[in-house]
Amino acid sequence: MTDIQRVGVIGGGLMGSGIAEVSARAGKDVIVVESSAAAVDAARNRLEASLKRAESRGKIESADAVLERIQVVVDLDVLADRQLVIEAIIEDEAAKTELFRRLDAIVTDPDAILASNTSSIPIMKLAVATQRPTHVLGVHFFNPVPVLKLVELVPSLMTAESTTERARTFVQDDLGKNAIDCQDRAGFVVNALLIPFILSAIRMLESGFATAEDIDQGFVLGAAHPQGPLALADLIGLDTTRAIAESLYEEFKEPLYTAPPLLNRMVEAGLLGRKTGRGFYTY
Ligand code: NAI
Repeated sequence: MTDIQRVGVIGGGLMGSGIAEVSARAGKDVIVVESSAAAVDAARNRLEASLKRAESRGKIESADAVLERIQVVVDLDVLADRQLVIEAIIEDEAAKTELFRRLDAIVTDPDAILASNTSSIPIMKLAVATQRPTHVLGVHFFNPVPVLKLVELVPSLMTAESTTERARTFVQDDLGKNAIDCQDRAGFVVNALLIPFILSAIRMLESGFATAEDIDQGFVLGAAHPQGPLALADLIGLDTTRAIAESLYEEFKEPLYTAPPLLNRMVEAGLLGRKTGRGFYTY
């Protein structure tokens, strides 16, 4: 176990609320900072719904006991006493760097870790926005956070080894997840492999090589994947899939990371997958 007891999470959306939930379930005192009163309510509702579900499935004894350990607020200054802050706001480089600059001035403990859940922004850009780059690293969770076991730990060139090791103990011993180590490169390990795989499946569909159903069934039955690449793209969201592809291409300039025209047309049409009711499949 770590000595980390006071955790801050910035952004209470899909990922931030999940990170707050698993931290509070591990007994931590958690403060979530959101951007407006309406977003605070939405984050609270998301947390309550998820914890009630966990309670009804017998995964936790009492949702209320966990909720008591979580405050959701608008004021960033309340993070002053935190030992670990995990940023999970929208994927916008300017917004994140500005936030790290402010956070650096607010958090008083010189040993505190300032982490980001970013999927594609270089950790170094966040680290150099602070006066303590040795204490900044990427801690990349997977959706849904309470269910998926993996966390990618992403130190930048300037992260102290002690920071990475403390974050590893938090993730593994305190939260009960599994950590893998990644370099500070776009896509880290999982997305750098997954996204070109999904893009290849889209190219296969686009060229008339096979149907969506057959491509997906091929992977489910032939490679024991829980779902095929096109169904997975619908789950991730086609806009998100394309955004990650763009950041991979931006970093590596490899054709395998370019978005196929079919993906571009679907995003332009608003066919984003499950969240809009239609992507490669209709929901
Ligand atoms: P989301 O859109 O569900 O949540 C973002 C939240 O941040 C919103 O509730 C918004 O109100 C809040 N926010 C925006 N600006 C803020 C600010 N300045 N201060 C406080 N709160 C602010 O997004 P999601 O999906 O939770 O993603 C968050 C981060 O996690 C992004 O960096 C994303 O790349 C990363 N990520 C997303 C994954 C996914 O599957 N969606 C997986 C792993 C990482």
